[in-house]
Amino acid sequence: MSCVKEISRTEFKMRGIASLLVVALIASTECSSGKKLAPNSVSNPKSVADLEEIISTMMTKIEDLAKENTQLKLDITQLKVNDEKMKSLVENTVENRLQYLEAVTRQITPPTCETLASLGVTRTGTYLVDPDGVLRGDPPIQVLCDMKTDPVSTIVLHDAMENTEIDHCPDPGCYSRGIAYHASMKQMQALIEQSESCEQKIRYDCFSTALTTSNTDYAWWVDRHEEPQYYWAGAHAGEHVCSCGLTENCIDPTLPCNCDAEAPEWESDEGAITNGTALPITELRFGGLQFDGQKANHTLGGLICQGKAASPDNPAESCSSLRKAGHTHAGYYLISTKEGRLDVVFCRMNLEDTDVDFQLDTGGRIVEESVYFNVYRTSMWNSTGVITFEGIEVNMGDAMSSSSRLAILV
Ligand SMILES: *[C@@H]1O[C@H](CO)[C@@H](O)[C@H](O)[C@H]1NC(C)=O
Ligand SMILES: *[C@@H]1O[C@H](CO)[C@@H](O)[C@H](O)[C@H]1NC(C)=O
Ligand SMILES: *[C@@H]1O[C@H](CO)[C@@H](O)[C@H](O)[C@H]1NC(C)=O
Repeated sequence: MSCVKEISRTEFKMRGIASLLVVALIASTECSSGKKLAPNSVSNPKSVADLEEIISTMMTKIEDLAKENTQLKLDITQLKVNDEKMKSLVENTVENRLQYLEAVTRQITPPTCETLASLGVTRTGTYLVDPDGVLRGDPPIQVLCDMKTDPVSTIVLHDAMENTEIDHCPDPGCYSRGIAYHASMKQMQALIEQSESCEQKIRYDCFSTALTTSNTDYAWWVDRHEEPQYYWAGAHAGEHVCSCGLTENCIDPTLPCNCDAEAPEWESDEGAITNGTALPITELRFGGLQFDGQKANHTLGGLICQGKAASPDNPAESCSSLRKAGHTHAGYYLISTKEGRLDVVFCRMNLEDTDVDFQLDTGGRIVEESVYFNVYRTSMWNSTGVITFEGIEVNMGDAMSSSSRLAILV
């Protein structure tokens, strides 16, 4: 402010108030930027010429400042552009990497989380897996890979995971809850076949109501073959049993399940179905809920599979068994035949088992038992390649071709 005053004290003739304002403005700008003012540099201005000189100097300064200002604005714009570019570059990189990873995943979509873990993936989360084989069968499925369990777990989720209150109805199985999995049945079956073990946890909370009472089964679950099952733990087809019954600690020791006691308080039966041939559970059926005082809830876990199924005795018997053992690449394989031979076959792993071209016999044979032959040649043989023999004395296992009399490639 003191600077402005100084200017107004330089009593020169102004052509208009506007000029004064400009000068004052510049003065304040100059002051705030801490620079010395032009008027101070001219001591005691006397003539109009002095004043004109001051104004001219200031006008030059205004121009310079204006230029500087324009340049700064340009610089800022440029910086903004650079910033945007940088951002989009970073985003692009992330996006590109995601796309790349996705593409890679698609190429090598592992059959199970187990395979994923063996590839070094340690993060628990959802992944795409393809139990029934890449590039054939059903499309890949989304599963939860729990990498913290040992062995790691492949978990197929469904739409009935929550603790659900069962609607009142009196008759056996009158309540029905179909289970919709986040995977096709074919994929789940393939997952079960490839795993060492699978299970599905189920819990029935009950208040004054039984699963089975007076020889009537009010509740059951439906296995994947659409058969009703009355066991609520382990693998006990044809029995009605719960985990407390198996460990003999049910609230009524004479009954196989806690709920079957129909106690007027919340009780529960909880277990894991471990019969892989029955899994996954496709439907829940409950009933026996007639009175208001009776209550029940169900909770069903996901299909959890762990480990790798033991591979069949080597060598396999067919391309089909090789596939079950986890071979996914098309190529030549040795299979053992019932005749005790090893045959070289071509397995087109990209085709379905039922396809006529799935397993092609190449005609290649290896006799599994010892091979004996005694052949001879009496004339000179002077080149490499196929040796033809002139006579065959012993030919166990038919490794020698008696018609062409050639055998060994050197
Ligand atoms: C049963 O479900 C109802 C409704 O979701 C809930 O309020 C109740 O606490 C559940 N009971 C048990 C024992 O889980
Ligand atoms: C396993 O489940 C299948 C299909 O439900 C059944 O046929 C078989 O008997 C069950 N095995 C056991 C041991 O429960
Ligand atoms: C090799 O054997 C063939 C017949 O078996 C004969 O015609 C040829 O001359 C022989 N060559 C040599 C280098 O001995």
